[in-house]
Amino acid sequence: HRILLLGAPGAGKGTQSKLLADAYGIDHVTTGDALRANKDMETEYGTPRSFMEAGELVPDPVVNEIVKVALEEADGFVLDGYPRNLSQAEYLSEITDLDAVIFLDVSEEELVGRLAGRRMDPETGEIYHVEYDWPEDEAVQERLVQRADDEEDTVRERLRVYRENTEPVISHFRDRGDLVEVDGEAPPEEVFERLKAVIEG
Ligand code: AP5
Ligand code: ZN
Repeated sequence: HRILLLGAPGAGKGTQSKLLADAYGIDHVTTGDALRANKDMETEYGTPRSFMEAGELVPDPVVNEIVKVALEEADGFVLDGYPRNLSQAEYLSEITDLDAVIFLDVSEEELVGRLAGRRMDPETGEIYHVEYDWPEDEAVQERLVQRADDEEDTVRERLRVYRENTEPVISHFRDRGDLVEVDGEAPPEEVFERLKAVIEG
């Protein structure tokens, strides 16, 4: 499978990609996680951190290279967090074909609540939520942190950047007739069933 999962910040791309990667034995290719793991890497544009903590996009050449290398190494993938603008979409079409392009549709009100309550385990990278998905293990609870870009002002900027740069990508795939839209406003297990139905449909 070569699956592209599109959606706004907080739509559940990371949560669902992980489930899909496990279910199908494919790679979870995520530019967000890759950049967070290399946030202090020096590039000719500065560090990824400087863009990410402001809620802005990291420059295309940096991100395109990450995706190119990851897709070359992958035997099947679910791609999460890329492409985020039309120029990245063009680049992606040059390096791979896709079997499924899925848009996880979630209302803005729900997105804001999910991002505000998200917590991350710095040791495992596991994602939780203060209301919807809280770990039972107290040692885990105590070490959870908030993602640096989940602070309120940064969330607002990420949603603005999404509307300006990434919504045109969604429209591009929709206009080509390639887009399958899935309602992402349901419990994670239910959304996962919907995604599997599309992929195996
Ligand atoms: P990235 O890491 O990709 O962030 P994002 O797109 O803003 O998406 P998120 O990770 O915030 O949300 P998600 O959809 O994965 O939701 P999640 O599953 O975690 O990018 C971060 C930054 O990196 C960018 O701002 C940019 O600077 C840079 N970057 C990355 N890619 C780039 C690119 N291609 N070009 C340029 N720059 C790039 O879920 C969210 C929360 O909701 C969690 O707490 C979860 O537990 C909960 N949740 C999930 N599903 C449900 C559900 N069904 N019901 C209730 N709660 C749920
Ligand atoms: Zn994510």
